[in-house]
Amino acid sequence: MNPPTPVAPPVAVISSIAAVRELVRDARASGHGIVLVPTMGALHAGHLSLVRRARELGETVIVSIFVNPLQFGAGEDLDRYPRTLDADVAALAEFDDVTVFAPSVDEMYPSGSTQTRVVAGRVGALYEGAARPGHFDGMLTVVAKLLGITRPDVAVFGRKDAQQAFLVQQMVTDLDIATTIEVVDTVRELDGLALSSRNRFLSDAERLAATTLSEALRTAENTAFEGVAEVLAEGAGAFGDHDAVKLDYLVVVDPATFLPVDDDFRGTATVLVAALVGETRLIDNTTITLN
Ligand code: PAF
Repeated sequence: MNPPTPVAPPVAVISSIAAVRELVRDARASGHGIVLVPTMGALHAGHLSLVRRARELGETVIVSIFVNPLQFGAGEDLDRYPRTLDADVAALAEFDDVTVFAPSVDEMYPSGSTQTRVVAGRVGALYEGAARPGHFDGMLTVVAKLLGITRPDVAVFGRKDAQQAFLVQQMVTDLDIATTIEVVDTVRELDGLALSSRNRFLSDAERLAATTLSEALRTAENTAFEGVAEVLAEGAGAFGDHDAVKLDYLVVVDPATFLPVDDDFRGTATVLVAALVGETRLIDNTTITLN
């Protein structure tokens, strides 16, 4: 007789803060490291790479799935943001010992919102923050709540949202939160497009045009030896006068401060790009060395 095929235990989904606190207490009592992967769901291979890294970093992995109203402005895509909990849970079935924390809006914001907000500061008002006022305050507020609920040793974020990762790191440093922030590289389609939950909004024509962002970044990488001014000019030039893709910004920032670099900057820098592809806002980034 053949031995029975092992069946992976189903992924546990919990929706109450009290239940997560209990899970965290039990994990701590067993001496387990706790790792949080905060997400808004609509999981793709990029998210799964964060969970894979989380698995390496601790025994108890909590994937939060919560579309946070606080980080969406009026007229943004809160209502149409994909909510695919069943598919997300199925996608996580490949991992052992992963718990999904999927609270309702009422569970996270019982009085409708919060009186207390985390303020993202100077960098929070730039780039994505300039296009989406209040976005980073709302993002940091929910991340602070998630860190408070799960008290993880490590929290894992994707590099595609480089400004978000910078601001989360700044928050845990400024507020002495005892969590290490781990940043995992962007996962890309074969043609270079960075994976994003918003890619599913793209029409076929927009999907083709969306590669302009990663092409602009490749151009920036290839012109880095010519200096900042050339990177900016050539990178933005990659957008040409594309009808379907409207460049919002392409900037070169110092990864230590996230402020734009001067023309004579030398060293490692981050190139950030954002564009509207049809109605869909996409962002991407890369690292260059300016000598
Ligand atoms: O990157 C995201 O999905 C969100 O901004 C986050 C970090 C889960 C907070 O809502």
